[in-house]
Amino acid sequence: MRIGLVSDTHGSVPPEVKDVFKDVDLILHAGDICDSYLWPLDQMEVVAPVLAAKGDEDSQNVLSDKRVKLRHSLSIEGINLTLIHEIESEGFPSGQIIDYKSVKPELFKNAMKVCMGGISDIYIFGHFHKPVIDVRNGFLFINPGSATQPDHELRADKLGTIGILDIASDKIEIRIVPLGNGVLN
Ligand SMILES: [Fe+2]
Repeated sequence: MRIGLVSDTHGSVPPEVKDVFKDVDLILHAGDICDSYLWPLDQMEVVAPVLAAKGDEDSQNVLSDKRVKLRHSLSIEGINLTLIHEIESEGFPSGQIIDYKSVKPELFKNAMKVCMGGISDIYIFGHFHKPVIDVRNGFLFINPGSATQPDHELRADKLGTIGILDIASDKIEIRIVPLGNGVLN
């Protein structure tokens, strides 16, 4: 199964996103969609079904859309995936963001349970506007980066990144795709 990964669109979907996602089976959006509105999801849904995590800059009302949750837990080809905006915090003092890199290996599994709502093989997240592919203690962490604001910079002449995740029974492949110098619509 081919999955398009996108995050932090902040109200704009460059046309290049649909080109890169043209043969995906599913699109996962890791949040900060467009404040109160979901039209970026509608635009991408022309290509493939979309699920999204609510971002910290998305208002509560986005949760009334059945595509959007605080966290999605999925099983695809026997692989468990969690889609979440930020790696934080339900069992921790509010606002505390867990840097998964700083968690000791012996505490890792429990930290994932508490902070991510369960154990998954792959955690897909956003928020930081920087692409990440990281294997840590046997878990794969993927952040596709922001499609429109790389490094939190909004520039008309420079787009960000998205990702393509291929899951087959015998292998997982992930690549980050820079959107180049297109223009925001
Ligand atoms: Fe964001």
